[in-house]
Amino acid sequence: MSLAETCDIPLDLHGSLDRLLKMDNTCGEAFYPSFMHKFPEIEEYFHGSNLQRLAALLPMALSVIVQHHEHHYASTRKYLEYIGSHHSLRGIPETAYPKFRDALLATLGQVLGGLWHRKLEEEWRVAIDESIETMISAYGKRVTI
Ligand code: HEM
Repeated sequence: MSLAETCDIPLDLHGSLDRLLKMDNTCGEAFYPSFMHKFPEIEEYFHGSNLQRLAALLPMALSVIVQHHEHHYASTRKYLEYIGSHHSLRGIPETAYPKFRDALLATLGQVLGGLWHRKLEEEWRVAIDESIETMISAYGKRVTI
């Protein structure tokens, strides 16, 4: 058990990721239905996608977002550019990304409940925006791994 868990220290980005990864993928299951409910116009992009698979991958994406924010590893950059170029090929517009971010923040807040707080939300917002910027930097390119 971490210090934050024993001493009521407010969760930081890393601590919240730790909590999310220890859960039985509640965030992945909650996110996509809520994203489409909040922004019905994005539903068309998911036609033919396996939502169960995407839900299972969401905690991994959260992990990459945090690692990329904290370290800017060459490997997280490459991965984000790779998925960014795929999103681009799939026709997902750049305007969908702030919607994704806002829906994701809402889901994280919902899943973390009383552990969620304003500063933590801001930390996640900055981290998600950094990943979005990297994904969008690969738009129009064909990035392979
Ligand atoms: C921070 C932003 C985002 C991250 C980190 C992210 C991450 C991912 C990942 C990891 C996958 C699975 C890739 C794979 O098949 O291995 C995926 C697929 C997908 N994402 Fe995103 N995504 C983001 C933004 C968005 C946005 C804004 C949309 C808008 C609709 C979107 C729609 C999709 C769709 C439709 C797929 C499924 C593609 C398929 O079925 O092959 N994503 N995303």
